[in-house]
Amino acid sequence: MPIKIATICGSVRPGNYTSMALNLALDELAKYPDVEVTPTYLEHLDLPLPGLPAKNPDAIEQFQNTVKDSTAVLLASPEYHGGISSPMKLAIDNLGFPSMLANKPVSLLGVAAGVIGAIKSTEQLRAICAHVGAIPLPAVVSVAKVQQIFDPDGACLDADMEKLIRSSATNLIEYVKDTVCAKVSLEEVLRQMGERHE
Ligand SMILES: Cc1cc2nc3c(=O)[nH]c(=O)nc-3n(C[C@H](O)[C@H](O)[C@H](O)COP(=O)(O)O)c2cc1C
Repeated sequence: MPIKIATICGSVRPGNYTSMALNLALDELAKYPDVEVTPTYLEHLDLPLPGLPAKNPDAIEQFQNTVKDSTAVLLASPEYHGGISSPMKLAIDNLGFPSMLANKPVSLLGVAAGVIGAIKSTEQLRAICAHVGAIPLPAVVSVAKVQQIFDPDGACLDADMEKLIRSSATNLIEYVKDTVCAKVSLEEVLRQMGERHE
């Protein structure tokens, strides 16, 4: 059974830096033959405000099913005014109440122009994820001064930061393999043992 990873990019700005960082994580995920990745870019979704009808319900349902069917999720948010972006919050609000993120391991990647990095947004994202019953990983990646880390074409100029950003993907896969996959394997062994004793 493949490991299914859903990723959400929380910036919809043309030329945004969050997707540049996310691209490194996606590149890392692509190295795993047993991992299927479905990225969501919110500018294509036209998500409704909570409580209002969707203009494109099929696309919203597809987004929801992607998260619902995923083994784990990677959330990449820019730091906007000391918090997560409104598109990222809207994406989470469109994942139901109770949330489809519940029980999903979630890797957090924050991107900021400022010197302190995406500390506030990733903390906020961690709190929201925990609140909806997701399992935010302890290791969070925060990118500071992002305009110095990537050139405008998205090439990473800092090898240490590139390694750190890529770890947002590898940490998630390692967590899934150590916990979710191990649990599924153990359950299968126990089921087979039970069948043999019947
Ligand atoms: C509405 C808005 C608010 C922002 N607030 C902050 C902030 O509080 N701290 C910070 O470091 N950068 C802030 N920025 C800059 C973003 O962090 C910067 O654009 C960075 O590249 C990540 O966003 P992006 O993925 O949209 O490019 C803000 C940008 C916007 C558009």
